[in-house]
Amino acid sequence: MEQYVIKGGIPLIGEVEIGGAKNAALAVLTAAVMCDEPVIIDNIPDIRDIGVLLDSIKRIGAKVERIGKHSVKIIGKTIDTVRVDYDSIKKIRASYYLLGALLGKYKKAEVPLPGGCNIGIRAIDQHKKGFEALGAKVKIEHGMIMAETNSLKGCHLYFDVVSVGATINVMLAAALAEGNTILENAAKEPHVVDAANFLNSMGANIKGAGTDVIRIKGVKSLHGTEYSIIPDQIEAGTFMLAAAATKGDVIVRNVIPKHLEAISAKLTEIGCQITEEDDAVRVFGNSELKHTQIKTLPYPGFPTDMQPQMTVTLALSQGTSIVTETIFDNRFKYVDELARMGAVIKVEGNTAIVDGVRKLTGAEISVPDLRAGAALVIAGLAADGYTVIDDIQYIERGYENFDEKLRQLGGQIKRVTCEKDIQRFKLEVC
Ligand code: EPZ
Repeated sequence: MEQYVIKGGIPLIGEVEIGGAKNAALAVLTAAVMCDEPVIIDNIPDIRDIGVLLDSIKRIGAKVERIGKHSVKIIGKTIDTVRVDYDSIKKIRASYYLLGALLGKYKKAEVPLPGGCNIGIRAIDQHKKGFEALGAKVKIEHGMIMAETNSLKGCHLYFDVVSVGATINVMLAAALAEGNTILENAAKEPHVVDAANFLNSMGANIKGAGTDVIRIKGVKSLHGTEYSIIPDQIEAGTFMLAAAATKGDVIVRNVIPKHLEAISAKLTEIGCQITEEDDAVRVFGNSELKHTQIKTLPYPGFPTDMQPQMTVTLALSQGTSIVTETIFDNRFKYVDELARMGAVIKVEGNTAIVDGVRKLTGAEISVPDLRAGAALVIAGLAADGYTVIDDIQYIERGYENFDEKLRQLGGQIKRVTCEKDIQRFKLEVC
C-alpha cells in the first residue's frame, strides 16, 4: 500500500508551478462530447480522476486520444450509448456531468446515481429540478438517473441551493435547448466560468457565468474547438497554506490571483506577507501566526476545499480560531487524525474551535478524503519528527506530483510502499 513518509520542521522555500484545475477539467472534458467534431483540450492535470473520466467517455463510444501528459483530443461523433456504467460513477461523482451533456446532445441519458463520499451528503435534487424545468422526464430507479425528452425547452430556473455541479450540469443541457434559459442563484466558481467559456468556444451562447444569473440562448449544435483549462485555484491555495504552516517563503506560479483573493486575505489576516504578480502569488510565512475566524462559503467566499488546509495552519497559530463549515455536513473527519499529532480542536456540529499550539509532533495517520489528505501532509511537513500517511490514493486523485513538488520546495517527503522504504528514508534524511 502506498504511503508518504515525511520528516517535518523544515520551512518550504522556492517556487512551484500550478497545473490545470481538476474541477474545471472534469466539466470541460465531459462537455467535449457534445459536438461531433474533434475537440482538443490542453492543460489538463495528469491525475487519477481525469483518467477515470476519460475512461468513462471512451466506454460510451467517444474517441479519446491522449496528446501527451496534459492534452487530449476527444471526438464525440462515435458515441454509441447514452447509458453510463456504474463503475465510472462509483469512482468519481463528476461523471454525472454526462447527464447534462448527453441529455443536451441526444435528449436522453442514463447515469448511475453517484455514490456517497466522505465529506457529507451529496444531493442531486437541484440537478433533477433543472432537467425537469427544461422539459425532461427524470426518474430514479435501480440506482440509475434516467432523463429523456423529445425536445429541451429553455426555462427560468431558481436554484434552491448554490450548487457548482447543478449549475454546470443544467448549463450543459440548456446550451442545446430551444429558446432561452435563465439560471438564478447560480454558482460562481472559476470552474463554472471555465465550463461556460469552453461551451462558448464550441458555439454556445452563454452570458453571465461568474455571476449568480446565467443567461443561455440555446443553439442547434456545437462545433469543434481547442481550449486550455484554467489553473487550479485549490492546488494553488494548498501550496500557499503549506508555505504559511511551515513558516516558509514560496512563490506559487501559473495562477490567477483573483481566484485566490479569499485565501490571500485570510493569510494576511493571520500575519503572512502576500505579494502578487500577474500570474503568481508569493507567501512569506511569519514566525508567529495569529488566530482568526473562517466561514466556508460559495465563491467568492472562503472555499470549502481549503477548509482542512486552513484549519491545520490555525492549529499552529497563536490563540483560539473558529472554523465554520457551511457547505458540507461532515468535513471535519480529519480532526481526529490531527489530534494524534497534538492539535487541540473541538468540533461542535459544523464548527471547529481551534486552540493553537506551539508545535505538532509526527505520527502515523490515515487520510479520510482528498483535501483533508493534503492538509494532513501540510501538518506532517510542519510537525516535529516523522509522519507516515496512509491511503494516499485519495490525495493522488486530485494532486499531480504532489510529493515531487513539495520536495522541490525543500520538503522532506517520499512515496513509500513498505517499512524498509521508511527506514531507508530516515537514514537518508537524518
Ligand atoms: C463541487 O462539488 C466540487 N467537485 C467539490 O470539490 C467542491 O467542494 C464543491 O463543488 C463546492 O465548491 C467538483 O467540482 C468535481 P455542490 P459539487 O453541488 O458540485 C448541496 C474537491 O475536493 N447540493 O456545489 O458536488 C450539497 O449537498 C471536491 O475537489 C444539494 O443540496 O458540490 C452541498 O451541501 C470536493 N442539492 C452543497 O449543495 C444538489 O442538487 C454544495 O454542493 C446539489 C448540491
